Amino acid sequence: MMNNEKIILYENILASMNDGLIAISSDGEMFMINPAAEEILEYSREQLQGKGWGEVFFLQGGNEEFNQVILDVIYEKKIKYSKIVPYCTPSGRKKILAMNSSYLRDMADEKKPLIGMIVLFYDISEFYRLQEREKELLIKARELIQERARALEKLAQGVAHEIRNPVTAIGGFAARLLKENPDLKYLDKILQNARRLENIVTEVSNFTKLSTPRKEPCNVRTFLEDVLVYYSPLLSSKNMEIAFQCDLPEHKTLHLDKGLIKEALGILIENAMEAMEEGGRLTVRCFEEKGSVKIVIEDTGKGISENDLPYIFDPFFSTKANGIGMGLAKAKKIINDHAGYIDVESNVEVGTVFTVTLPALENSPGA
Ligand SMILES: Nc1ncnc2c1ncn2[C@@H]1O[C@H](COP(=O)(O)OP(=O)(O)OP(=O)(O)O)[C@@H](O)[C@H]1O
Ligand SMILES: [Mg+2]
Repeated sequence: MMNNEKIILYENILASMNDGLIAISSDGEMFMINPAAEEILEYSREQLQGKGWGEVFFLQGGNEEFNQVILDVIYEKKIKYSKIVPYCTPSGRKKILAMNSSYLRDMADEKKPLIGMIVLFYDISEFYRLQEREKELLIKARELIQERARALEKLAQGVAHEIRNPVTAIGGFAARLLKENPDLKYLDKILQNARRLENIVTEVSNFTKLSTPRKEPCNVRTFLEDVLVYYSPLLSSKNMEIAFQCDLPEHKTLHLDKGLIKEALGILIENAMEAMEEGGRLTVRCFEEKGSVKIVIEDTGKGISENDLPYIFDPFFSTKANGIGMGLAKAKKIINDHAGYIDVESNVEVGTVFTVTLPALENSPGA
């Protein structure tokens, strides 16, 4: 290829690029500016060509981070340096740029002195704004969910408080009457139902009294093994298999309130057993992912319908004849109090997967 053909080729490539490109000589002079660079930075080629980077951009307030990328490349001799930085146009508009810069060197002769540097940038303002908006919406949604949970908890406490005395009285008098008239019809039914209401009151008050976690270092692997050893005779007696897979390092330690976490996992395991009346398989897995420890409890039970799924963590939501519906509300509160969260996925007639996520920050008593 002839030299001037090469130049035409390079010019065409530069003109068709969506990324802005500026080449800077070793004296700091901008000697190549493509059209995308003009558009993104809102400077014409004439305003930049032959000028020093500092001469143009250092004077523009609000561009400290943008300029720092160039300084970092110069002082630290960085190759392929990438950073997302704010940029302020001459008219004062704020943009977010993804910048890539690198030293320019003679590819044919590595020993030759550096020719200068090249700066590539891309306007990601729109993407960034959308991401920020999405984050805001997520935070808002989480706040609404928490607010709803708090309101439901308050309602549950209020109702339990109101029925505690009447229910104790009904139960007490029914028991006395039954003692005096053992054959009186329906009295046993009244007593049975009064006991059930008393249980509900007790469950709600247990929920209200859930203590704040008293965390201590805990080896997750042995802790989970202990929990499963406790449940395994019950599972096998009900024709259910149990599988445990732990991909955590042997000495992985978390700061937990063992009693409370055992209670939360117990609630999930008991629900799984109740969903597999005909037998099935309970699989417990644990692993580390993105700074969190995940404990997955999976069953092959009857599953949860799409209609029920949004409500299963609400106090008093139960699809069981004798269920109170406080189990998952309690498990969720315990995990939330450990700065973690519970997710659920379910398919009717296939099974359910509950995933408990706990922060895995080691050596952090608050985690
Ligand atoms: N593993 C599971 N498989 C299928 N359904 C489940 C499972 N876990 C929970 N559910 C559904 O979520 C509902 C709420 O569970 P939760 O533990 O809060 O209450 P419960 O088990 O009904 O009563 P209890 O308060 O006695 O535990 C259950 O009634 C059931 O419909
Ligand atoms: Mg339950």
